[in-house]
Amino acid sequence: MSGPGLALAVLISGRGSNMAAIARACAAGQIGARIVRVIADRRGAAGIVLAAELGLEVEVLPAGEFPDRAAFEAALRASIDESGAQLVVLAGFMRILSPQFTAHYAGAMLNIHPSLLPGYPGLHTHERVLKAGEREHGATVHFVTSELDAGPVALQARVPVLPGDTVASLSARVQQQEHIIYPQVIGWIADGRLRLSGGRLELDGRPLPATLP
Ligand code: GRF
Repeated sequence: MSGPGLALAVLISGRGSNMAAIARACAAGQIGARIVRVIADRRGAAGIVLAAELGLEVEVLPAGEFPDRAAFEAALRASIDESGAQLVVLAGFMRILSPQFTAHYAGAMLNIHPSLLPGYPGLHTHERVLKAGEREHGATVHFVTSELDAGPVALQARVPVLPGDTVASLSARVQQQEHIIYPQVIGWIADGRLRLSGGRLELDGRPLPATLP
């Protein structure tokens, strides 16, 4: 797909609600970007149907059907590069990428993680936050480096943990914020407002991270 705006490849493994939020922000002209391809690593990902409903080009690369990680990543890289994407957006992509892969897209690959990093990297963040009795939780958009959930933070959103919260209620509150901050960061990049300077991120010349709300 050609046209104006920053070209995005969005990688998903599951529901695809962040992908849909980004697609809607693009379609509404809220951000100067466009999704050129959605790539799923599982045949059963619900987001595949959602992407097709949104009129997006979808490619399925079932990771389990490749002989090894190197073969899967070679196909993934070929698909991203062939799509013309300028930014790779991991949106619920549940696969650890090799250092070679992350190095190739250094500064051009984002992830969203459901915690206030550096707290709670890894899986099952909502359960762990509830179990620890935290009073605050949230989500983080960050650039991807070879270290899992540890690249430079672009934007975080904080939410309260409320009495009686369950994993479902807490994750819904976090996801609502994810759908705001992910398009926001992509919009900053599309507008050339977010820059890496000396290994640190700057928004409009000021150091990040920033926090919403
Ligand atoms: C989100 O909570 C995101 O933070 C995490 O995986 C989830 C993906 O949700 N990385 P969805 O597929 O975008 O609905």
